[in-house]
Amino acid sequence: MRPESFEGAAPYVEFRGVEVAYNELVSGLRGVSLTVKKGEFVFLCGPTGSGKSTLLKCLSREVWHTSGTIVLAGRDMNRVPARDVPLLRRQMGIVPQDFGLLTNRRVWENLAYAMRACGKTKREVRQMVPKILEQVNMLQRADAFPRELSGGEQQRVAIGRALINDPPLLLADEPTGNLDPDHSVEVMELLLQLNQKGTTVIVASHDMPIVERFGKRVLLMELGKVVADTADLNSSRVHEEIARALSMPEGHATLDGEPFDRDQEAENA
Ligand SMILES: Nc1ncnc2c1ncn2[C@@H]1O[C@H](COP(=O)(O)OP(=O)(O)OP(=O)(O)O)[C@@H](O)[C@H]1O
Ligand SMILES: [Mg+2]
Repeated sequence: MRPESFEGAAPYVEFRGVEVAYNELVSGLRGVSLTVKKGEFVFLCGPTGSGKSTLLKCLSREVWHTSGTIVLAGRDMNRVPARDVPLLRRQMGIVPQDFGLLTNRRVWENLAYAMRACGKTKREVRQMVPKILEQVNMLQRADAFPRELSGGEQQRVAIGRALINDPPLLLADEPTGNLDPDHSVEVMELLLQLNQKGTTVIVASHDMPIVERFGKRVLLMELGKVVADTADLNSSRVHEEIARALSMPEGHATLDGEPFDRDQEAENA
């Protein structure tokens, strides 16, 4: 029997006043409100610890919000019981910040294992694994173990694994985090191709050159809040922040860490 599906309602995301209190002292989100339309491509930017991963994990229910409302594909997450979470996750592709590949399994086994866990038959697995590996340009490395792959190749396998259910929503956490610029562009182009086929894509990224290059909507996060959104025509803040990050010298082109002291740099010059 086909399991209950979240299909039907258009896949889109809405956060209203969402808070995540990890404990009494640490908040992951402090009142996030946002809407992502079906088919959009959105970057989540912001300094380390600003809540990007927490926001993505709220959608995949790895983190349960402590107040506010999250609606995904027309469904109020507060009303999704824990037993439905695995089913909910099959409606989205998740590319975690650390790739999350099984190190003792070959590339094809990583995909096959995830497919079997989603209830696919052995026959479906045999048919789909090569197709997906081809889609992410990793078919030639199907027999490799993750340790034998470059960071970019591992990232492509992780994206492939996220595609096994042909999800309407793809969540990618720092997909270019460990990649050189060429591989970053390659991975982003793969995500863009998926978006062009209709997948809604949300990408958490520090990678300002990439964010700038692809010119998509940017939500800027700070201290657990969305503080600017390029979709808001009155907001020039995100562009200023991106320009500021890009004007930093090599190795500092992030929104991360200590503010760059330009006066000090001028004195040192
Ligand atoms: N499991 C957890 N338990 C307690 N606190 C957590 C947990 N996960 C994240 N936090 C805290 O929540 C805040 C937001 O973290 P989050 O990982 O969402 O940030 P981020 O923007 O993804 O950062 P980065 O750019 O470093 O990946 C940080 O203060 C972090 O220390
Ligand atoms: Mg993160």
